[in-house]
Amino acid sequence: MRKITIVGAGRVGETTAQILAEKELCREIALYDIREDVPEGVALDICQTAPFFEFDCSLSGSNDPQIMRGSELLVVTAGLPRKPGMSRSDVLEANVRVIDEVVDQAMRYCPEAMILMVTNPVDTLTYRAFQRSGWPRERVFGQAGVLDASRMASFISHETGFSVRDITTIVLGGHGDTMVPVPRYCTINGIPITHFLSAERIEAINERTRKGGAEILALRKNSSAYDAPGAAVAAMVDAIVNNRRRILPCVAILEGEYGEADIAMGVPCVLSDHGLESVVEIDLNTEERAAFDASAAAVREDIGRLKDIV
Ligand code: LAC
Repeated sequence: MRKITIVGAGRVGETTAQILAEKELCREIALYDIREDVPEGVALDICQTAPFFEFDCSLSGSNDPQIMRGSELLVVTAGLPRKPGMSRSDVLEANVRVIDEVVDQAMRYCPEAMILMVTNPVDTLTYRAFQRSGWPRERVFGQAGVLDASRMASFISHETGFSVRDITTIVLGGHGDTMVPVPRYCTINGIPITHFLSAERIEAINERTRKGGAEILALRKNSSAYDAPGAAVAAMVDAIVNNRRRILPCVAILEGEYGEADIAMGVPCVLSDHGLESVVEIDLNTEERAAFDASAAAVREDIGRLKDIV
């Protein structure tokens, strides 16, 4: 991939840019932010790590949205972060305005790009970007499940002492308190986690996963998580630019899959150089289905609020 623009040079945007550069996932990274001088400063700082990490990827920053021109992918991290005690939905209204503007600029300056939404509430804002742009769902999707699944994998690794490399996890639904970790599909090198962990321990891991973002926010106090979110975005970008066809949980616009339509939420998807190539429908048992439905209802409630925001 030639050029990626990261919208929002805050902590998540900066971490993402650093990892994309280190991994040389594109030739050029643009950072766009409305804060004066900040994107230039972030770009310059990351450029100066190049001798250590030996990358030739160029970085630049600007307050001018025209910096998006020529981008094949837009990673959208701009917006207000939540403060301790706030839910992701509490920043909906402020962030819809930010995202609307970004989508309008993208339509103008890089109409063929893909949008990878990261800003919260990510399910609702992915839906908003899809609606506003009119682009196909292959090109408008969001990051949440990769992060949530990585949190779950790290908790399983801590609990069992086994290498995180062998742990496969899956988290579905909206990126909020109703998200749906699916331990039935979680394995350690193919062995179901139930072989190693009691039902009680698994439930504790599920709960910690659901509250994973809030746990870090409460500890950091003045910031949400950004290291793992940046790495999660980079994993998605890697799958796309290298056409890996990885199956990763992503925020996708559903068009009948899982019995849902006109909504964006977390489901397993195939990521390739086409973007979100397809949604993978897995069997859910009664309990998992009920949790998925409850999560869809929570996302729908936020989506319902969109019409009141002009
Ligand atoms: C988290 C926030 C960023 O999960 O949504 O850490």
